[in-house]
Amino acid sequence: MKGRMLTYTLFGESHGEAVGVLIEGIPPGISVALDSLKEELERRKGIPELSTARREEDIPQIISGVFRGYTTGAPILVLVKNRDVGSSYYEEIKDTPRPGHADYTARIKYFGYNDYRGGGHFSGRLTAGLVIAGYFARRLLEREGIKIKAYIKKIGRISCGELELEKILSSKNAYCPDELALKNMINEIKDARNSGDSVGGIVEVIATNVPPGLGGPWDEDIEADLASAYFRIPAVKGVEFGAGFKLAELRGSEANDAFIMRDGKIVTEGNNHGGVLGGITSGMPIVARIAFKPTPSIYIPQRTVNIREGKEKIIKLRGRFDPCIVPKAVPVVESATALVLAEHILRRNSWKNVVRRTGPKV
Ligand SMILES: Cc1cc2nc3c(=O)[nH]c(=O)nc-3n(C[C@H](O)[C@H](O)[C@H](O)COP(=O)(O)O)c2cc1C
Repeated sequence: MKGRMLTYTLFGESHGEAVGVLIEGIPPGISVALDSLKEELERRKGIPELSTARREEDIPQIISGVFRGYTTGAPILVLVKNRDVGSSYYEEIKDTPRPGHADYTARIKYFGYNDYRGGGHFSGRLTAGLVIAGYFARRLLEREGIKIKAYIKKIGRISCGELELEKILSSKNAYCPDELALKNMINEIKDARNSGDSVGGIVEVIATNVPPGLGGPWDEDIEADLASAYFRIPAVKGVEFGAGFKLAELRGSEANDAFIMRDGKIVTEGNNHGGVLGGITSGMPIVARIAFKPTPSIYIPQRTVNIREGKEKIIKLRGRFDPCIVPKAVPVVESATALVLAEHILRRNSWKNVVRRTGPKV
């Protein structure tokens, strides 16, 4: 992401030396605890009983930008070394792109110079860098009282029940507040795995205590920035805010969220708008749902083409693949949200400092 205040660059390849992130624009004085950063990376490994046999030991190495437990304001570089890498199989399949993966498009884009091992720079492993960047953004947002929580809304055909916001926010479960639904979701994933297949799903993310006034129209639209951040996550194929696609079926009288007074504050009665009006936060929780496709790498034989020979082939994959990436994506979605909100908080605070001198008109 190249924001006006905050930028980050993900680097590395799945089977290279390391993956990581370079973050610029995080202000000085943000406290950093290596243990809680490790915990975030641990969560990105997904539900233990479902994850791939590749158990990366994700130990973040902070190379720069943090001194004695606080950010310094200088660029932050963090890397996670790759271990447990077995690449020889990818030599066998390098000319036969996996359907649904980036193997084919990457080869075209990089004229065949791309590192194709394990998906290379396109691997979901790169999301470790995103989670690290998100960690710093979240520490910044904590100071503003903003909280972000994502959870699994759906796996295949199994949905989480409709839950009160409070129940979602207070749940200690790292993946889904509806424990019964989660059990069924895990079974759905196992079912796909047992048949050599994969399954997709939906992650819902909720950001609370977001002040009104973040974002703007057109170029500054926070909804567009969030959607863009979500679509950059590999395997994301759909994003909706608030009532989302259901709004297309409603009348204006049903869709509009009435403004009301609650405890001396202006709020809306419902939240069909998902916390954003005119590209600007309304002060209501930001609610977005992000749809992930099923993991492209599956064990069921699939049709592909040998690019070198120009002949159709059947590819039958071996190796270690997750039957579902959705649990791993939960902290990834939170991180993408945190980075966009941090960018807009930094912009807003810089205006606030100026306007404070003249005073607001309302
Ligand atoms: C956290 C995470 C883990 C992933 N793990 C895998 C995996 O093990 N196998 C796989 O084929 N795809 C995996 N993917 C998805 C691919 O990276 C992705 O589908 C591929 O890069 C093509 O991009 P696209 O689906 O956005 O078009 C993962 C994605 C994420 C977000």
